[in-house]
Amino acid sequence: MSKMRGRVLIPLPNTGAMGRKRNNFYMRSIFILALCIFGLLQYHNFNYLDSRDAMLSESITNDSVDAIMSMVPATLHKYLTPHTRNHSISAAGLQLNSSGSSLGGSGSGAATTISFEVYRPPNNTEIKRQIVRYNEMQLVLNEETFGPLQNDSVIIVVQVHTRINYLRHLIVSLAQARDISKSLLIFSHDFYDDDINDLVQQIDFCKVLQIFYPYSIQTHPHEFPGVDPNDCPRNIKKEQALISNCNNALYPDLYGHYREAKFTQTKHHWWWKANRVFNELEVTRFHTGLVLFLEEDHYVAEDFLYLLAMMQQRTKDLCPQCNILSLGTYLKTFNYYTYHSKQLTASSSALSSSTSLKNAKVYVGDTSDVDNNNNSNNNNKNKNNKIMNNKKTSHMNTVTATSNTNNNNNNNDNSNKNGAQTWNYHVLPSLYSVYQKVESMPWISSKHNMGFAFNRTTWTSIRRCARHFCSYDDYNWDWSLQHVSQQCLQRKLHAMIVKGPRVFHIGECGVHHKNKNCESNQVISKVQHVLRIARNSHQLFPRSLMMTVPSLIKKSKLRKGNGGWGDLRDHDLCLNMTMPTR
Ligand SMILES: *[C@@H]1O[C@H](CO)[C@@H](O)[C@H](O)[C@H]1NC(C)=O
Ligand SMILES: *[C@@H]1O[C@H](CO)[C@@H](O)[C@H](O)[C@H]1NC(C)=O
Ligand SMILES: *[C@@H]1O[C@H](CO)[C@@H](O)[C@H](O)[C@H]1NC(C)=O
Ligand SMILES: *[C@@H]1O[C@H](CO)[C@@H](O)[C@H](O)[C@H]1NC(C)=O
Ligand SMILES: *[C@@H]1O[C@H](CO)[C@@H](O)[C@H](O)[C@H]1NC(C)=O
Ligand SMILES: *[C@@H]1O[C@H](CO)[C@@H](O)[C@H](O)[C@H]1NC(C)=O
Ligand SMILES: *[C@@H]1O[C@H](CO)[C@@H](O)[C@H](O)[C@H]1NC(C)=O
Ligand SMILES: *[C@@H]1O[C@H](CO)[C@@H](O)[C@H](O)[C@H]1NC(C)=O
Repeated sequence: MSKMRGRVLIPLPNTGAMGRKRNNFYMRSIFILALCIFGLLQYHNFNYLDSRDAMLSESITNDSVDAIMSMVPATLHKYLTPHTRNHSISAAGLQLNSSGSSLGGSGSGAATTISFEVYRPPNNTEIKRQIVRYNEMQLVLNEETFGPLQNDSVIIVVQVHTRINYLRHLIVSLAQARDISKSLLIFSHDFYDDDINDLVQQIDFCKVLQIFYPYSIQTHPHEFPGVDPNDCPRNIKKEQALISNCNNALYPDLYGHYREAKFTQTKHHWWWKANRVFNELEVTRFHTGLVLFLEEDHYVAEDFLYLLAMMQQRTKDLCPQCNILSLGTYLKTFNYYTYHSKQLTASSSALSSSTSLKNAKVYVGDTSDVDNNNNSNNNNKNKNNKIMNNKKTSHMNTVTATSNTNNNNNNNDNSNKNGAQTWNYHVLPSLYSVYQKVESMPWISSKHNMGFAFNRTTWTSIRRCARHFCSYDDYNWDWSLQHVSQQCLQRKLHAMIVKGPRVFHIGECGVHHKNKNCESNQVISKVQHVLRIARNSHQLFPRSLMMTVPSLIKKSKLRKGNGGWGDLRDHDLCLNMTMPTR
């Protein structure tokens, strides 16, 4: 409390002078006055500190591999250290063996490589066999250690493609989260890869289950849902297509383009995994608690589960109409905004009792890992990359431009235009740290598609709208979900959103900023720093939630889909996933 009092008084004029009078009565009334003002300020979103923050920040994050490693506890370095397979001759056989033995009962998986043998990636037949095996076994790793899944535990589902380097960091962040040991972590893969499997099976901090999307391009390289040799090329004209009699000639999308397998896969996968988790898996199909959706290139704060539980508890009284909880925010402007000098000032001056700066021990890292951004360029899951018609991209440019000129302190968090400031405001030390602000608004795909959670009640209503989801001409699952919400649900998706993000998108460089000088390390490093500041200034683990009046809600216009989903085969496949398989 005393700390709070001190912080409250600092920005007020006259405080110093009055204090010197040492008059108890005055002191007390001033304190009360201050409290009142404090309260008032909260309601008005006064952001004094905010503007100061904006001016102070002007330094560069150190995003070297060593620096990033130094922010990660030594015990977690194993998740960042690749066990390189020697693709010519296995000198790494020893390592492989040792990582293989920690598989913990998952049987003689692919990792049982014998020393001095060449590492051979599994062929297609073998991959299909393994996928069937995994999906039938539904083996929950570490269950003996952490006990069976409880109804009130959170299930975390991570959609994984190929970007293992991001996944490593996600795992490191999950490992540090409070209460992670109670949750079940499900990895849903659309690409079978021994390195990814080894990494996931190495996890020892909670229960883990792997599921494999069975209709992947990887396992269907020359047939639907992959690319059939007789499929129409994307840009062919319909008349030509009809003449050439290619497979899907009758079904180009809204914009006259033909199907591209790699763009449809993500939506299929999303739908499959949600059905799989809620309706099929033995361990989860009766679960009544929350299911949280993450992706391989996300990164969580250590209090994300704590906050999620708090939001869940308070839903009834803060936002009875909310049926989806959102922990994330896109940091579109993040790369253009720097904090760091300011953090140090704030945390070192404001806190006497903190353990904070001690954390900066330097661990000598293994450098081989983090992170060649190479995978991200050809990744297939650019869900946000609306290449079909680029409206979103232009929006992004606006955001960026705004953030560069953002110094003035306009204080309504008009999150759309002033992303950087909103973000800055909520993560940096401020007077309001003990209360975490939340707001509620209709679920918007482009804003709330990251780190959201809902329970079976919500899912059941979504699933009833499968037809809307599966036949809407948009290859983005999140736009499709919004379509479902607006066109089909009786109770639309209404989100409670935490204003200080707990889930970050570390992979956004790879997708959005191909031409910018933007490496994955940079974002990871920045997120690490932001979290360190938040931690050191006691902004994590807030004591309570406070509902704020949402910033202006624009009626999101109904709009045409983004296309890419015209092919009837896709509609069928998607609908088929809604049918029970077991
Ligand atoms: C970044 O950190 C590494 C190791 O901690 C150090 O060697 C390097 O000099 C730092 N670079 C900058 C630009 O501060
Ligand atoms: C792979 O093995 C060969 C032969 O033993 C060795 O020369 C090479 O350095 C090894 N490569 C790696 C990455 O371990
Ligand atoms: C794996 O390593 C253990 C000791 O760590 C050893 O006993 C065993 O023989 C090794 N297995 C293979 C297949 O190399
Ligand atoms: C694929 O690998 C399996 C076992 O690794 C092997 O038995 C099979 O012959 C291989 N198939 C082809 C087509 O190479
Ligand atoms: C979870 O809730 C369901 C439905 O209420 C119930 O049938 C099941 O026994 C509960 N499971 C546990 C582990 O509490
Ligand atoms: C799911 O959450 C809603 C609030 O969004 C709540 O009303 C409902 O009771 C929950 N359902 C279950 C099965 O717990
Ligand atoms: C990406 O991979 C390609 C092909 O392996 C390689 O030539 C290129 O140098 C890599 N780029 C980076 C940044 O690692
Ligand atoms: C969907 O299921 C139906 C009936 O089981 C089947 O005939 C059809 O081929 C399936 N479609 C796809 C794309 O899998």
